[in-house]
Amino acid sequence: MDAWSRFWRQGHTTTFGDYFEEGYAGPVKDWLESLRSTLGLVEDGSLRVVELCCGNGSLVPFLVSLSHPFVYTGVDAANVSLPSMVRDAATHSQGSVEMLPNTPVEQLPESITGVDCCLSIYGIEYSELQITLSRMRERMSADGRLFALLHHQDSIVARMSRRAVSEFHARDIGLVEDALSTIQGALQRVGSVSALKTDPQSEQARKFMNGMANKYIKGATLKAGNAFMADHVLAALRFFKLLGEKPRVREQFISDLREEANAALERHQQMVAVAKDASDMQNLTTTMAAMGWSEVETQELTDKDDIIGWTLTAKA
Ligand SMILES: C[S@@+](CC[C@H](N)C(=O)[O-])C[C@H]1O[C@@H](n2cnc3c(N)ncnc32)[C@H](O)[C@@H]1O
Repeated sequence: MDAWSRFWRQGHTTTFGDYFEEGYAGPVKDWLESLRSTLGLVEDGSLRVVELCCGNGSLVPFLVSLSHPFVYTGVDAANVSLPSMVRDAATHSQGSVEMLPNTPVEQLPESITGVDCCLSIYGIEYSELQITLSRMRERMSADGRLFALLHHQDSIVARMSRRAVSEFHARDIGLVEDALSTIQGALQRVGSVSALKTDPQSEQARKFMNGMANKYIKGATLKAGNAFMADHVLAALRFFKLLGEKPRVREQFISDLREEANAALERHQQMVAVAKDASDMQNLTTTMAAMGWSEVETQELTDKDDIIGWTLTAKA
């Protein structure tokens, strides 16, 4: 399973909501709200909206909050789906929601056409921008508008992702897996949880796990510690709650733990790779103008002292 499908399967509603005090209801929504007058909300028509690289429908809550009829299609290359909480809110709104999982935005289906509003939050830059933006323009309605927020090299998200990449400790992740596998093997041998203490290898592995907890969790602060490894070790310690379960449950846990660490690393690496600086954004606006987009504008979006990203707006 790819790194993003793994993430969305866990039921997240947004990718970076946790990085901001109020999730996407904070500065991201404030920015979208500020565009309200340009969103194209016509009195008795519904807004045809497409969200590119939508994750689990990250902008559906915002659309619901507009209290205006909308027809939404979310497109993402990963195996995304609408979390039940968001689905319930959408059901009670004036909107209809369609999700297109496993669909790269470079290959939009024919059904996507006459789009009034194309949205993307930390999304399009993960795709082949040239292809995505030129094809999307052909699917817009005459006055259709694009509103996107892209990763900024100096944003809080980019800083946290760079830090996570540097915190990934492959050797310790491997040793944690070995320790859990040792305990797993010992449990099979001795036959009961109470007899585990008599197994020297298992005891050594348990002590190793205590050492990992001391190294990464004890006394760690968000500023000083290794947040990536603290999360990993915390997750690994849940293994001890599974000692009474069937062996295959623990085996699955051990392999999931490793895969999740690798997938998280990959997501952070992708984020760091797609973040843009001012000259990237300048080039992008020039390229978009050449494609036929008009009123192409980009700006730094900030909140207090933090950079949130680059806004990119354009008219078809
Ligand atoms: C950082 S996440 C953002 C998701 C969502 N907009 C949010 O803010 O929560 C980036 C998303 O882009 C998707 N993605 C990457 N490349 C893509 C492509 N070529 N076509 C469609 N989706 C893509 C990934 O699957 C992932 O869900």
